[in-house]
Amino acid sequence: MSLGLENLFGLSGRVALVTGSSRGIGASIAKGLASAGAEGFVHGQTLDATRTTCEAIAQADGVAHAIGGNLAEKGQGRNLVETVEQRSGQLDILVINASAQVNASLADLTDEALELQLAVNLRATIELLQASLPPMAKRGWGRVVSIGSINQDDPKGVVTAYAATKAAQHNLIRSQAREYASHNVLLNTLSPGLIDTDRNAARKNGDPDGWVAYTKQINWMGRAGEADEMVGAAVFLASPAASFITGQSITLSGGS
Ligand SMILES: NC(=O)c1ccc[n+]([C@@H]2O[C@H](COP(=O)([O-])OP(=O)(O)OC[C@H]3O[C@@H](n4cnc5c(N)ncnc54)[C@H](OP(=O)(O)O)[C@@H]3O)[C@@H](O)[C@H]2O)c1
Repeated sequence: MSLGLENLFGLSGRVALVTGSSRGIGASIAKGLASAGAEGFVHGQTLDATRTTCEAIAQADGVAHAIGGNLAEKGQGRNLVETVEQRSGQLDILVINASAQVNASLADLTDEALELQLAVNLRATIELLQASLPPMAKRGWGRVVSIGSINQDDPKGVVTAYAATKAAQHNLIRSQAREYASHNVLLNTLSPGLIDTDRNAARKNGDPDGWVAYTKQINWMGRAGEADEMVGAAVFLASPAASFITGQSITLSGGS
């Protein structure tokens, strides 16, 4: 392999789908993949939700298509992949980023909260993998980046069910990494710590001083991460530079 930066990290000619890229971490990653040259599919629950990310990519001379779908619905994961394959002829890079998170101890977890987290975080992940991996293997090139969480290994009580789905998601990544390694289809997890996105907005805005005190002790850096700080690692794992890495989890947590 030539060691020029374009050859190592360039994604020209690749088609990427980032679930949940209407905002937050997914939006940052979609913009990062597009700036590396990938044709991007920006996904949100509705097409309307994707507009801001699509416009930002277009303004930076990237290529972005909008795709919508509620991943809590059975079949939507498979449907997303099939739609991308139909519209662009291939899906090379899949970032499994959308998730549902309902904070509750196990004792307080409702049936609805359990079903939502199982559907979006686990069933949709399985469907996305079922639909995307065989065609990637046939083409002899594929990258999957699954957005996990530090809670997948070190679960806090308040996110018990969410953490269990994240652990299961990484378990799937490892089993499929083993299964598809010889086909040059590589799957890895990125595990963020606390990141300043809409997901934490109520906590931050509801108690700004409490937020500062909380973030000061959350990791070695004493602050929440920014969504854009997830981009470099995601682009790296999607790129030719990561050609000998599969089945791993990389933690982005500010040290802990
Ligand atoms: N923020 C953190 O502190 C943190 C920490 C560790 C891990 N993570 C993980 O990082 C990923 C991104 O988190 P984030 O903080 O960026 O999230 P976020 O700001 O809450 O955004 C969530 C994204 O997921 C989409 N989404 C939510 N429910 C969906 C559903 N049922 N069907 C389809 N799409 C759905 C949303 O689409 P709409 O805009 O259409 O609603 C949105 O694009 C998640 O997997 C999360 O678990 C986050």
